[in-house]
This record gives sequence, C-alpha cells and structure tokens, in this order.
Amino acid sequence: ASKEEEEEEEAAKAFEASLPKEKGFLGPYLYFYQGFWCPSRVLHNVISFQKHFEAQDGDIILATKPKSGTTWLKALTFATINRALYPTNHSNHPLLTSNPHELVPFMEFNVYAHGNQHLLHPNNSCSRLFSTHIPYAALPKSIKDSHCRIVYLCRNPFDTFISFWEFTKGSMSKGMSLEEERSSMAEYLEYFSRGVEGFGPFWDHVLGYWKESLERPDKVLFVKYEDLKDHDGIREMKRLAEFLSFPFTVEEERGGAIHEIAKLCSLKILKDLEVNKKGKCMPHVENKMFFRKGEVGDWVNYFTTSMVELLDQVIKEKFNGTGLTF
Ligand code: A3P
Repeated sequence: ASKEEEEEEEAAKAFEASLPKEKGFLGPYLYFYQGFWCPSRVLHNVISFQKHFEAQDGDIILATKPKSGTTWLKALTFATINRALYPTNHSNHPLLTSNPHELVPFMEFNVYAHGNQHLLHPNNSCSRLFSTHIPYAALPKSIKDSHCRIVYLCRNPFDTFISFWEFTKGSMSKGMSLEEERSSMAEYLEYFSRGVEGFGPFWDHVLGYWKESLERPDKVLFVKYEDLKDHDGIREMKRLAEFLSFPFTVEEERGGAIHEIAKLCSLKILKDLEVNKKGKCMPHVENKMFFRKGEVGDWVNYFTTSMVELLDQVIKEKFNGTGLTF
C-alpha cells in the first residue's frame, strides 16, 4: 500500500474508534454512524459509497431494510426494465441462471467492497441498477440531487423480524430446545425494539424513505411487500414499471406480460432453480437462504403474547401520526 493509502487507513481506524458501538444480538459489532447501526464489516464500504458514488440520471436504486423482500424486488425490477433485452419467456433469461443479487449488486456489500468497482459498469442491463440497505438520510448526495430514482420496499415489522430470525438462526448453535429458541428470540426482539440491529432502527429506516416518497413522489416509490403479494402483484408491478419509465403497453398487458414477469420472479420458480438451490454469490450466505416461505403474517406462528405487546407498543409509538400503517 502507498503512504497515502496507509494514512487513509489510519484515519479510518481512528474514525471508527470514535463512533458509538454495540455488540449486535448475534454477529458483528454495530457502529452508530449517521443515525443508523452499521455492521462493522461494511462501515468502510458505506463510507466509500458515500464519498465516491456519482449517480447518473438513469440510475435506479433499490432500497430496503434487510429481509423486506430485497431479492424479490431485484428480480422484478431487473426483469421489468430489461424485458426488451431479455424476453421474459426465453429459456436463457439471466434470472434462470443467476441469483438476483448477482444481477443487482449491493453498494455496501458488493460494489464498494474492495476491488469491485467494475460492478459500476454493468453490461447485462439497460440501466444501472443497484441496491442498498442504508437509510435515506445516509445516501450519497449525488443520489439525492440527480434525477436517478429510488424504489423502497417495506415489509411489516413482525414478518421482517421473523424473516431475519430464521435467516440468522442457522448460525447459532444447533440443537436448541424450543424453550431456548423462544428465549433467544425474545432477546433478539429486545434489540430490535431498541433499534439496535443492522441498518436499524427499523422505524427511522422506513420513515426516512416514506417521508421522501410523500415529498418527492417522482423520486422515491414506496412499495409494500404485502401489496406486492396481493393479486399477484399486478397493480404494484404496473406502478413500478411506470415509475421507472418502462410502462407496460396495453398490448403487453393484454398479452400477459406482467403475469409472465410475476411468474418468473415468484418464490416457487426462483427457489427451485439450480443456481438458487446450490449456488453462493454473497460471501457469507448461500443463495438458498434468500428464499424461505414468503408469506404474509407468518409471524403469528412465532410470537408469544408478551412479544406481540412489546413490538406493538414500539411500532404504535414510532409510527403514530405518520400516516403509515402495517
Ligand atoms: P420469509 O423469511 O418470510 O420467507 P430479503 O430478500 O430482503 O433478504 O428478504 C427475504 C424474504 O423475502 C424471505 O421471507 C423470503 O422468503 C422472501 N422472498 C424471497 N424471494 C421471494 C419471492 N420471489 N417472492 C416472495 N417472497 C420472496
């Protein structure tokens, strides 16, 4: 490394050491950086993203809190905007051989991870399409100032919580009794309710994008996972395509183009693909972990009465008067 790089590294370390820090429920330390809890292993990448990314007007950014349906949104958006390039019903559609996270990289996990800058110039898509988990307030200025567009997918906090719980459970010691599992889940809920979890607090994340979508509806499209599940997501997919300036024509709609995309991106189809059963495209995660049940309301199978009370109260308090309900 050059002297300059070494100095930059030193400065970054000193900066990290100055941030409030908490041990997350499981995994890595979280740093409280610009109003959110940033997992330690991506802090450096987040800062690089903020510092160096230059948004272009045609760019599309998919923003989500982890476990809100990011993988699905990536698939739907990729298939929708690239349908002229890759007809949905063709047997060589990229979604049949690549996981959605390969086609739409995360800024903080992929693009701004060391040495991955080539991802800034994708050649498999007609628009640059990226994703991020960081909150609106922390997005690079050029994203806010340019005409690039942001799609935010939100999911009800109960299901988001359970989805993450199931996602992480695998990395805890195997063979927990039901009781141990319960108490561990209750412990995680306490972290969640305090907002101390990757890219949390949940409410600040959601409300940041929600408020921006109200103020600048041309800039931020706010979509709910639950609405996407409604009527095969047709209404939401039309909204999405229009917002991104790739509207479906009447002819396409009559010919079933929207249904075709919905089917290609369905959990059932994606989950059974070889690439998603056996592949691995993110450093610590096998592709199959991104596909579980995909149901609305699965949380009722997990929550005890006291857990419902706790989360209900927090969510009511934080979302009261915002116009957003779950
Ligand atoms: P569940 O754990 O409730 O099943 P993310 O992609 O943000 O990591 O979110 C993962 C959640 O989205 C998981 O929810 C997963 O099953 C669900 N999901 C993944 N692909 C989906 C799809 N094509 N359609 C609907 N839900 C999907």
